[in-house]
Amino acid sequence: MEFSDKLKSLLKSSKNVVAICGAGISQESGVPTFRGKGGLWEKYRPEELANFDAFIKNPVLVWEWYNYRKKLISEVNPNPGHYALYEMENLFEKFFIITQNVDGLHHKAGNKNVIEIHGNIMHSKCIECDKIHYDVPIQEKVVSIPKCECGGMIRPNVVWFGELISENLLMDSYKLLKDCQLLFVIGTSGNVYPVASFPIIAKENDAYLVEINTEKTTISYMMDEILEGQAGVFLPKIVEIIKN
Ligand code: OAD
Repeated sequence: MEFSDKLKSLLKSSKNVVAICGAGISQESGVPTFRGKGGLWEKYRPEELANFDAFIKNPVLVWEWYNYRKKLISEVNPNPGHYALYEMENLFEKFFIITQNVDGLHHKAGNKNVIEIHGNIMHSKCIECDKIHYDVPIQEKVVSIPKCECGGMIRPNVVWFGELISENLLMDSYKLLKDCQLLFVIGTSGNVYPVASFPIIAKENDAYLVEINTEKTTISYMMDEILEGQAGVFLPKIVEIIKN
């Protein structure tokens, strides 16, 4: 397993480090990815379900799909890739994860500095009063749509197609990207914006960009170094280099 001398040296000297994560990091925990080999989208069509219009048209169907994913996620655990990122939070002076994943596995691994830019699948929100609900139970067969005390329908509190990411989370992310010396881009196909454009911001500010992915992606061309393989294999090795 070859790491460049430049990367080895940056692993020792970098103070501000950021990891952008996508579905690939959770693949080794048993959470299907959206795209790529074995991706969830081969069996389902989330672009048809993960949007507000679909929810209004058929909330039972949308909730059934989310309950299927919530159940799956509630039964899985972080893998060596997640735990390596937890170690990095303690090894670097400043280390943040910007994740597109809604599975909460970074928090489960122990990381505290996590921006969940697409939300968290376990959290829900009233479409009328915006109240956040943390206790919506998983129903295998949806008999009734969860309702808020105000009477409004409750939806998963994740970012759907056509919806904007919170301004605050974007601002926080831009600041981290501008300040970092080293950026890891892990297990994301680079198809979904704005996150797919985040590496450019770090690059413009002279960060060294390292992609970890089992395949080449649409954003591989931006990278300074590409580690082609599983996140759960590469990340623990990177932690070893930092420690030794
Ligand atoms: P994708 O499913 O688009 O991409 C997953 C990437 O992970 C692919 O490039 C795979 O090659 C790679 N991969 C698979 N297994 C891996 C492993 N063990 N180690 C490293 N890489 C691996 O997932 P995202 O890029 O995260 O948005 O998708 C972005 C967004 O699209 C998601 O957050 C979701 C979806 O629409 C929302 O739900 C809003």
